[in-house]
Amino acid sequence: MVAPIRALVTGAAGQIGYSLVIEIAKGDVFGPEQPVELVMLDLPFCAQSLDGVKMELQDCALPTLVGVEALTDEAAAFKNIDYAFLVGAMPRREGMERKDLLAANVKIFKSQGKSLAEHAKPTTKVIVVGNPANTNAFICAKYAAPKIPAENFSAMTRLDHNRALAQVAAKAGVTIGAVKNVIIWGNHSSTQFPDVRHAKVTKDGKEVDAYTAVNDNAFLQGEFISIVQKRGAAIIERRKFSSAMSAAKAACDHIRDWHVGTQPGQFISMAVPSDGSYGVPQGLIFSFPVQICPDTKKWKIVQGLELDEFAKGKIDVTTKELIEERDEALKACEEANM
Ligand code: NAI
Repeated sequence: MVAPIRALVTGAAGQIGYSLVIEIAKGDVFGPEQPVELVMLDLPFCAQSLDGVKMELQDCALPTLVGVEALTDEAAAFKNIDYAFLVGAMPRREGMERKDLLAANVKIFKSQGKSLAEHAKPTTKVIVVGNPANTNAFICAKYAAPKIPAENFSAMTRLDHNRALAQVAAKAGVTIGAVKNVIIWGNHSSTQFPDVRHAKVTKDGKEVDAYTAVNDNAFLQGEFISIVQKRGAAIIERRKFSSAMSAAKAACDHIRDWHVGTQPGQFISMAVPSDGSYGVPQGLIFSFPVQICPDTKKWKIVQGLELDEFAKGKIDVTTKELIEERDEALKACEEANM
């Protein structure tokens, strides 16, 4: 029998968790032949509802799910895991300042970084979904070092990437499968830069660039960018809750591609530690276009894409925001003597 993959989902009793665990359990991430042991972690006050999720998973009678645990103890949850979906985070409450939110999350992700180092496999791969996702991933990686290498940490911008694909497909009058290589640069926040300058669309049997297929430059450099940047807020306005189904699907897309590799000629958006590419300071967890090698399962930042002044300006803004967040998070670590 193939050895099971042990996958942890934190915040599993929450909204995203509820959609995410079923997708992992039924083989959407690691494939229909791969057994999965699912570990779910949430805070003690959610123990009962987490137990209910576990019962529902059992009732799904899934051939791929060979084990399911509902835990409230961090050390037990991180034990021997292969993949970590870090979804649980402190939500922004009314009247809460940005720096209070950062400080609360720094505490959570510092603790989880240490738990990763102490209990997880050194090969564990991590996606941080909980906001502020990029900076949470930065802190988590810092405290998991040196046991777990920084390249194993990522933050999710795949939902923004998928939103951009959907907008381009609708505007070009094609299906999603006909669009590839949109890019989300930077932070998972409203400063992100959704960029279609290098995207390709297959239309009427021919592959053309997105600008040709959409044939509306003003839209692509204006409304399109703000639609993608503000899509999360638009969903909250209508649903009264933040995106959950689409966020769960995006987390699965992210880890599936990391696990099996990207298609030849395809790139996807993933926030990973910068190696200095495109002038982004080294170590910052920044969303780049990446390709993943199916054999080594390692990502590499796509090199040599030309950036015009417009793109450079947008990338500057999101870089500055991430530097500020990083510095505030590091200061919060110091102030709390962490
Ligand atoms: P939610 O509030 O429904 O669920 C969060 C769960 O995490 C709760 O059950 C809570 O008890 C748990 N939790 C909090 N701290 C924890 C800890 N230290 N350990 C374990 N569990 C903990 O929130 P929802 O809608 O599921 O969203 C989760 C996070 O994902 C939020 O931070 C949200 O902002 C973020 N998000 C990120 C997106 C992205 O594209 N990166 C997209 C959508 C949401």
